Amino acid sequence: MRIRHHPILDFSAREPLPFTFNKKIIAGEEGDTIASALHAAGIKELTISQTYHTPRGFFCGIGKCSSCLMRVNGVPNVRTCIAPLQKNIIVERQHEFAALPTAPFTGRGKRTITTDVLVVGAGPAGLCAALQAASHGANVLLVDENPRLGGQLIKQTHKFFGSLQERAGTRGIDIATELEADIKKYEQTGKLTLMAESTVIGAYEAAEGYRFGLVKRINYQTQLYDIHCGAAILACGAMENMLLFPGNDLPGVYGAGAVQTLMNVYGVKPGENVLMVGAGNVGLIVSYQLLQAGIAVDRVVEAAPVIGGYHVHAAKLRRCGVPIYTSHSIQEVYGESSVEGAVVVQLDSHWKPIPGTEEDVACDTVCLAVGLTPSTRLLSQIGVPLEYISEAGGFVALHDDTMQTGKSRIYVAGDASGIEEASTAMIEGKIAGCAAAKALGYPVKPETLALFKEEVAKLRAGPFGEKPRQAKAKIEAKAREQHA
Ligand SMILES: Cc1cc2nc3c(=O)[nH]c(=O)nc-3n(C[C@H](O)[C@H](O)[C@H](O)COP(=O)(O)OP(=O)(O)OC[C@H]3O[C@@H](n4cnc5c(N)ncnc54)[C@H](O)[C@@H]3O)c2cc1C
Ligand code: FES
Repeated sequence: MRIRHHPILDFSAREPLPFTFNKKIIAGEEGDTIASALHAAGIKELTISQTYHTPRGFFCGIGKCSSCLMRVNGVPNVRTCIAPLQKNIIVERQHEFAALPTAPFTGRGKRTITTDVLVVGAGPAGLCAALQAASHGANVLLVDENPRLGGQLIKQTHKFFGSLQERAGTRGIDIATELEADIKKYEQTGKLTLMAESTVIGAYEAAEGYRFGLVKRINYQTQLYDIHCGAAILACGAMENMLLFPGNDLPGVYGAGAVQTLMNVYGVKPGENVLMVGAGNVGLIVSYQLLQAGIAVDRVVEAAPVIGGYHVHAAKLRRCGVPIYTSHSIQEVYGESSVEGAVVVQLDSHWKPIPGTEEDVACDTVCLAVGLTPSTRLLSQIGVPLEYISEAGGFVALHDDTMQTGKSRIYVAGDASGIEEASTAMIEGKIAGCAAAKALGYPVKPETLALFKEEVAKLRAGPFGEKPRQAKAKIEAKAREQHA
């Protein structure tokens, strides 16, 4: 299942990393996670459901859904989609409830870090926030639970639209590399500290500022940190939406982001023949990227009567012979231990299935590109007021135009503040970074903040910016109401 030839990415010349899975030797490669190496070996069944006793596989690929928990070197419940593969490790499939650990407990004590600004999430929003806060003099701790920096950018091989300031015309993967290089430069100045493979698990108000609980993963074990900070920027991104249909938990049903991660980050095919559900930009772009990786896309089905994504992406796909069926959805997925096929159906004007229009699709992979929901768990834990704003993708933190939430010195940026795209996430991050530094007394010129606000308004000015424009107008209006 390895991709060896790709028009944009080079997956050749990677060191072999053998490891053991259920007593068999598997050939992994340097750069793999445990789950990507298993997929490359054709193993999609990663765990067994505790409730239904059925097989479970990779779904989100970014550490959000827990359907990839396995036992590694005697440590239970390791999220194998974000755990880098190491040579000669022992991986076992867990059956329902995980058995107790057999690995020796290393008994590491809690460690404390004090910083001016904590930035949670090193996607485009968090990276830009950290760079701005540090460049204005603040000490910054930037953390991300994934092994690599860049959030969703590290899998985006297509060139970006948007503004030149936000690198339009550049591929997402290259933007991630550029931002990472800037972060490394700031690390050398001592102003910025970076912690990867580190998950923020708790958020609390403290006598002065805030405290956050953080778990860093070291060789599949964990180290607890107590972070004290004056301000925090929560740029945790979003989670992919699930659809309800029989068989939606079978291995081989993936979120679109997970498919992109497998193909474009690890060079592994998710399957050989894909049914794509959703014709928004994500569904269209990922379908084209599947073709680039040499994987067949049977069709795209879209429940709405019109294609939601840019027509330029849809046209590219149609030119490659992939049909897009609007007013169609998925009804069922079937298979013994992984996807063997799916049934699609036409929908009427009330989005109800039309009996007799069911069609069987031979596929081994179903890819769901049906929207994202902002990640707001830490925000709700710390007591920030949230509201359901449908244009923003779900519950979001009310915030003002400096990205400050209802709690003083708690900021939000990027998809966590409402689903949008990477260019606006970067500018929101810059605004939040400047605002956090300013709130802590570091000098920030008013024209710097004004310029970023102008840039984000320009990006949202076109017809495709209508939804986020409405979302942000509602969020800021409700924040003002709460403040009054
Ligand atoms: C499949 C897909 C395709 C897309 N295609 C495009 C596109 O073509 N063009 C475009 O402009 N946009 C695209 N987007 C959207 C774009 O990628 C996002 O809008 C953008 O990445 C949002 O940036 P962010 O920094 O807010 O979040 P993310 O990029 O998601 O980054 C959030 C980061 O936070 C980390 N994190 C979350 N919670 C914690 C925690 N508790 N502790 C530590 N770390 C944490 C995550 O590991 C992640 O790295 C796409 C999105 C997806 C899912
Ligand atoms: S947490 Fe690993 S696949 Fe979702």
